[in-house]
Amino acid sequence: MSAKYILIVDDEAPMRKNVYDLLSTKGYSLCEAGNGEDAVELIKTENIDLVLLDINLPGMDGLTTLNKIKTFNSDLPVIIFTAYGTSERAIEAMKAGAYDYIEKPFELDEFLLIIERGLAFSELVGEVKELRSIVSTQQESGNGQMIGSSKIMKDIFKTIGRVSPSDVTVLIQGESGTGKELIADAIQRHSLRKDKPYVKVNCGGLSESILESEIFGHEKGAFTGAVSQRQGRFELADGGTIFLDEINNMPQSLQVKILRVMQNQSFFRVGGEEPIKVNVRIIAASNTDVEKEVEKGTFRKDLYYRLNVVRINLPLLSDRPQDIPLLVKHFLKKYSAEQELVVPFEEMQTLLDYSWPGNVRELENVIQRAVVLARKNIITIGKLGTEGKKTGINAFIQNAIEQGMSFKNIVNRIEKELILTALRKNNGNRTKAADCLQIHRRLLYSKIKEHNINI
Ligand SMILES: Nc1ncnc2c1ncn2[C@@H]1O[C@H](COP(=O)(O)OP(=O)(O)OP(=O)(O)O)[C@@H](O)[C@H]1O
Ligand SMILES: [Mg+2]
Repeated sequence: MSAKYILIVDDEAPMRKNVYDLLSTKGYSLCEAGNGEDAVELIKTENIDLVLLDINLPGMDGLTTLNKIKTFNSDLPVIIFTAYGTSERAIEAMKAGAYDYIEKPFELDEFLLIIERGLAFSELVGEVKELRSIVSTQQESGNGQMIGSSKIMKDIFKTIGRVSPSDVTVLIQGESGTGKELIADAIQRHSLRKDKPYVKVNCGGLSESILESEIFGHEKGAFTGAVSQRQGRFELADGGTIFLDEINNMPQSLQVKILRVMQNQSFFRVGGEEPIKVNVRIIAASNTDVEKEVEKGTFRKDLYYRLNVVRINLPLLSDRPQDIPLLVKHFLKKYSAEQELVVPFEEMQTLLDYSWPGNVRELENVIQRAVVLARKNIITIGKLGTEGKKTGINAFIQNAIEQGMSFKNIVNRIEKELILTALRKNNGNRTKAADCLQIHRRLLYSKIKEHNINI
């Protein structure tokens, strides 16, 4: 097989050279372009297998270039370079048909892997069609913005970009407060049905009969109190999208009816005899693992299969502590637009060390309260629930860097924490603590003094 041919598009020559040198050692053939116009010309004339495209280009910008490329070669995988980006950028790039995106500076292994996957993918032309779509020029409103720079959230943003434009059914799973509704909203907002009705139904909490007539509507006289005909949510959503929230709490009898709508694109109003045809895209959310519900017998297997075409599993907030500082910043802006508030290092560490059983919603509430209680422009968090948890070192380091802490101070803090932990583990016994850290006792003594540790 001949070497794969990769085009590097970046306006910075040193960046191009870096990538060039790196990839040529991996056996790829390469060519370069310093702007979008040249890139498009090259793609027209050369037999390129994959494009690496900087999103910030002078003249024709990266997204426009990507669009041009996609109009005449929709199957060509394009990997976007972005500087430290936002979720919206990622979604826009994915919507515009990018194969993937990677943030600069990137990790080598990840970069090479993405390229390999992109090349393998381009051979699976069939799938490419699914990834293609139209660019929306609509600006994202500030509300509904999704925050997250953790890998797990970025992957979710990519999925949203991929699935939004098709009519595929999406099942969103996540514990309370993890952002399920926000994700559903984003999918709708980025879909081809964005200007069509968007109807939400909470499937928990209502009694079975009320829920049924909510969802499907009823005919006049269908039951006592049905004094007039009423349209249900499915009818109201016709042509658009329906969000079935808490689908795991839907009574079994209604589960069958939802399944029928999915199979036949039609349903009956309560007491109705004429089937009503609808064209509705379904997004469903569950705060439990639906697969487990199926095993328990509380959720219909056939409906689960219908819903689970694409699944998005939202992580617990405590599984992505590195997003906490970003979310805090976001909520501070949301609840105190006029005033610039400061979160001291220790307070941020308190937030990082908490376990967040209520996830993002709980964090939002805590910040909202803290904004009200702020003195001068300083935020104090106070005591959070008892469920503390030590966050990973990465979150600590990120917090420290964002707070402008020096190298020396960061290392110091880590050193102190290390010694404290070793002492605690050994009930304050210094000899044992020194042994466990494999350092001399005298060194431990001097560190205890240096860090002002009180045993
Ligand atoms: N990634 C995020 N970025 C910014 N805000 C978020 C994010 N995730 C959740 N939120 C905010 O947290 C709150 C809870 O989110 P949402 O209502 O979507 O959660 P949910 O999973 O539907 O919760 P529940 O199961 O309790 O209904 C909302 O105010 C939402 O705006
Ligand atoms: Mg919700």
